[in-house]
Amino acid sequence: MRAYMYVRPALAMCGRRALSNTSSASCSAVPSTLVHAALSVLNTPDPAAKAQLSQMHARQWLSGQITAIRPDDSETKLQPPDEPARGECPPIVSSGDMPRVKDLAKAQHMLFYMHSIAHVELSAINLSWDTVARYACLAPQLPREFFADFIRVADDESRHFLMLSSRLRELGSFYGAFPAHALIVQTLQNSCGHDWQALLRRLVLGQLSQEARGLDAGPRLANRLQGAGDNVSANIVAQIAHEEIEHVRIGLDWFLFCCAQLQIQDPMLEFQETAISLSNPGAFSPPFNHERRMLAGLQPEWYEPVAEALQQRLAALPPLRNHQLKQPQKP
Ligand SMILES: [Fe+2]
Ligand SMILES: [Fe+2]
Repeated sequence: MRAYMYVRPALAMCGRRALSNTSSASCSAVPSTLVHAALSVLNTPDPAAKAQLSQMHARQWLSGQITAIRPDDSETKLQPPDEPARGECPPIVSSGDMPRVKDLAKAQHMLFYMHSIAHVELSAINLSWDTVARYACLAPQLPREFFADFIRVADDESRHFLMLSSRLRELGSFYGAFPAHALIVQTLQNSCGHDWQALLRRLVLGQLSQEARGLDAGPRLANRLQGAGDNVSANIVAQIAHEEIEHVRIGLDWFLFCCAQLQIQDPMLEFQETAISLSNPGAFSPPFNHERRMLAGLQPEWYEPVAEALQQRLAALPPLRNHQLKQPQKP
C-alpha cells in the first residue's frame, strides 16, 4: 500500500502563510458588542489569526471593554455566516474520504492524530463564537453568565489550537498538512435557528456529543503519545483533555437551563431523542471514559442508550453498497 504524504508544496505554502499572519490580531479596535466580536472571529479565514482574535476579544470582555451583548434593534440584521470563514488549507473532505491511518507512513501517524485534534479545536472556536452570536437574541432571558461561559470556552479552544499548531511545527509539520472533516457544518445546519429549541440542539450536538467524545479520545491519545516517547505532545494533549471536562459541564448546565425554559419534564429523554435523531454513530461509539464523563456530570444512563440505538440503526441499514462493492460485476 502506498504511504500517503500530505506535505505538498501548495500546502506547505499554506503553512508559511499562516505563520506570516500571526500578528494580524494585534489590531486593538474594541467591538461595540459581543455579536460584533463574534462576527469578526467567524469572518476571519486564517486559522492563527482567528485564534488570536478570539483570545483578544475574550480579554476585552473580561476586562470590561466589551459590555453589551447584542446591538440595538436597528442592527438586528447582523447574523453569523452560514459557514465560518476558512483558509485554503486544510482541504475539507467527507468522512469517507479522510485518509486512513494505516495508509499513512508510520512517522505520520501521531502527526495525523494531533492534526485532527487541532482541527477539532479550530472548529470549536468557530462553534463557540457562533453560539454567542446566534443566541444573543435570547438575551436577557439567556443571562450574561451564558455568554461569559462560552467566551471562556472560546478562549480555551483558541489556546488549545495555538498549542497544537505550535507543536506540529516543532515536529516538522503544520496545521493544514492533512485533510480535515466538515463536522462543524453539520452541527451548524442542525442548530441554525435562533430559538431555545435550536440552542438545545446545539448543546446536545456540540458540548454533549462532540466535546464529550474528546473526553474519551483525549486521554487515549495522550497515553499513545507517551508510549511513543513524545512526552511534550502527550502533556499538551493531556492538558487539553483535562480542560475539556469543564466545557462538557458547561454544556450540560445550559442544556438543563434550556429544558427548564421549554418546560421539558425529562431532560435525559430529551437529550437521548435529540442525539439519536441527529447524531452519527461515531459520535457515541464506545469505549467511553465513564470517569471523565461523570466528572462533567454526564451519567452513563444518558449516553449508553444513545450508543445502542445508533448502533442498531446502523445494523438495520441495508448492506447494499458494501455488497455491491465486494461482489465482482458479471460481464
Ligand atoms: Fe479544546
Ligand atoms: Fe472544548
